[in-house]
Amino acid sequence: MLTHEYSYETCLEGSVRNAWTVDDCFRGRDFDFAKPFLPDRIAGVSAIGCLSDDEKRMLNQIRGNSYCHIFAFVEEYIVPMVVDHARRDVYGDETRLWTLLRFAEEEVKHQEMLRRACDQFEAGFGASCGLVPGREDVAGAVLATSPLTALLLTSMIEWFTQLHYVEHVRDQAELDELFRDILRFHWIDESRHARMDSLLIDEVANSLPADEREKAIDELLVLGGAVDGLLAQQAELDIDALQAATGRTFTETERDEIRTHQLRAYRWTFLVSGLEHPNFVGIVEQLTTSGADKLSQAATALSA
Ligand SMILES: [Fe+2]
Ligand SMILES: [Fe+2]
Repeated sequence: MLTHEYSYETCLEGSVRNAWTVDDCFRGRDFDFAKPFLPDRIAGVSAIGCLSDDEKRMLNQIRGNSYCHIFAFVEEYIVPMVVDHARRDVYGDETRLWTLLRFAEEEVKHQEMLRRACDQFEAGFGASCGLVPGREDVAGAVLATSPLTALLLTSMIEWFTQLHYVEHVRDQAELDELFRDILRFHWIDESRHARMDSLLIDEVANSLPADEREKAIDELLVLGGAVDGLLAQQAELDIDALQAATGRTFTETERDEIRTHQLRAYRWTFLVSGLEHPNFVGIVEQLTTSGADKLSQAATALSA
């Protein structure tokens, strides 16, 4: 159903050849809090008029911490999902089985890496930063959708992860080196996972009637709405954290200004950059007739 040149053999070979550990990424280093962590396309701090340069850098770092947390959060469901797909043919194609088990293992490793990043941030930043709770609830909500919906969400996430690193982080030498490496090591695996998502989407979608494929896009957009709600909660926690870190108390007008910029940046990062990703849109175009238009409308509404 999908046009692609991927195979479990080449994914397995890439997974073995490019294997890394969380210690390979951290190499005993800590964050340099004199530097920003994220490019402004993701952090969205540069145009906030009520903040000084130091305060913008602090908000950028708070956003780096929440970036790691939200990734760990939204990827939580991928492990059980991939294990379920592996179990469907546990006595069948051993290459498929081994590739999918490595996929699941790599996602567990990402959780460990991202949690360690949040722990080191908490220890070094100097102020406690709130992070949205309820990761198991989000995982449960994703896994309660159809298998195609959960795979499409995964594909979207794995494509935008790559875009964030390659187009916005890789060549930005002014960003903290450890933080860039966290995104680089994540990208090494995600670039392969995105291909495996297409292999799994192909397997699942082949046996689905057209209306079920169309319905998966509607379900995906409902999940996107739930993610949007989480992002709004996290943006408020970030403003509280910035107050704690700077010792300032923002007026309502200042808080509104920060919130407006932050919601726009959060939405681009975790929703719009995926909904508009050409590879993801290409997958949806092949599976559905109206899906790509729905993605485009959602992206436009979220960018307003
Ligand atoms: Fe991941
Ligand atoms: Fe992944």
